[in-house]
Amino acid sequence: MADIAVIGAGYVGLTTGTCLAHLGHNVTIADIDEIKVQELNEGEVPIFEPGLSELLTEGIKNGNLKFVVGASSASRNAAFHFLCLPTPPNPDGSTNMEYFHSAIEEIKDILPPNSVIVNKSTLPVGTASQLKKQIQRTDVEIVSNPEFLSEGNAVQDFLHPSRIVIGAESQEAATRVVALFSDIDATIQITGTASAELIKHTANAFLAMKLTFINEIATLCELVGANVLDVAEGIGYDPRIGSTYLQPGPGWGGSCFPKDSASLLQTANKAGFDFELLEKAITLNTAHLQRTAQKVIDALPEGKEIEKSKIAVLGLTFKAGTDDLRSSPSLAVIGYLLDLNAHVSAYDPMVNLPIEDMSKIEITSTAYEAANNADALVILTEWEEFADLNYERIHEAMCHPVVVDARNLLNPQDLEQQGFQYIGLGQ
Ligand SMILES: NC(=O)c1ccc[n+]([C@@H]2O[C@H](COP(=O)([O-])OP(=O)(O)OC[C@H]3O[C@@H](n4cnc5c(N)ncnc54)[C@H](O)[C@@H]3O)[C@@H](O)[C@H]2O)c1
Repeated sequence: MADIAVIGAGYVGLTTGTCLAHLGHNVTIADIDEIKVQELNEGEVPIFEPGLSELLTEGIKNGNLKFVVGASSASRNAAFHFLCLPTPPNPDGSTNMEYFHSAIEEIKDILPPNSVIVNKSTLPVGTASQLKKQIQRTDVEIVSNPEFLSEGNAVQDFLHPSRIVIGAESQEAATRVVALFSDIDATIQITGTASAELIKHTANAFLAMKLTFINEIATLCELVGANVLDVAEGIGYDPRIGSTYLQPGPGWGGSCFPKDSASLLQTANKAGFDFELLEKAITLNTAHLQRTAQKVIDALPEGKEIEKSKIAVLGLTFKAGTDDLRSSPSLAVIGYLLDLNAHVSAYDPMVNLPIEDMSKIEITSTAYEAANNADALVILTEWEEFADLNYERIHEAMCHPVVVDARNLLNPQDLEQQGFQYIGLGQ
């Protein structure tokens, strides 16, 4: 079993480190956030991720898992160094490498001989070879091992992945990293570092484009009287298309798709390639988010001005099953409504505090409270519990009973029978 340092205790680092400890490795997870480290050492998990808390407690108890402040404290005695650091976007869409460069500076001289740095973060193509130059150590290898977990299912995805991609320039380094995952039953693909880096960006950009495509079809369905749910089901039976990522919604978002698509576009630009298809998918997504906001505005009672309206929102996180608000489509749609001075009250099962930079949103502790005196209600995140609400009670609470279901979560006939005007997406 190997000595492993994991740098960065976020969604990816915590999942990676905790699962590697569960597989029997001796893991030290480092973060710069001292309070987070202290809480983790006490067994408190700062994010919502099913199954993570149990594995973390197990790891602390059996001594396989500990948490420290600072990358160098973890890396000093490790053979493998998993970098799970943020890769936020620069204003031009390219990846901001600040976190990487500063962590590498911190550890490069204290890495034990024959160490392997494993890049888990999503990084632009060419990063591994740049970092190799930065560290100036011939005895240290850099391997790209992109992470494909999806939030809300991270532990399952890590332990039962669709594939493990390992990009390395030396067969020996690849073999050593493969061995870390020997207890996981998965297809392992070994490539060069550039291909591994591009696989991850390509996967996210492709999924984002698939979502844009079905959202465009949803708009077309509305114009021609078809139902996008039937169309999606019908094309999803075709194994060449597949049925996932075909659910229309308010527009895509989250901590990965927007920044990774923008970064891939920048990679293409820098390489002198005009990636028009991807560029269009990004701009169409922005248009779709605006279109969703417009649907809400159009649903207001006739003559009611937006600045005098109260809009109830159900769902703030970027998707169901997570507490992550980063680049949430819900917040983007709300942003358009707030710009027009609407009053927005919102309920989300995972959010109970005001949101930074969006403190104008009134956060309520129930859906019914959010709906109170509302002129329209919009569902922006697909939390299952929204389908089980007492809509009779919501009807009584609202001034104007109209539901814009941007996730197609509810049964239109049921809502209409209860006296609502129901506006779905693409139906
Ligand atoms: N979140 C996802 O669903 C997901 C899935 C696959 C890949 N990724 C990629 O993984 C990477 C990490 O994403 P995340 O969502 O886990 O990010 P995150 O922001 O949740 O976590 C990053 C952590 O790194 C810490 N950190 C920053 N600088 C540090 C340093 N010098 N030393 C130690 N710790 C430091 C931060 O305090 C934070 O806790 C990104 O590249 C992301 O694109 C994310």
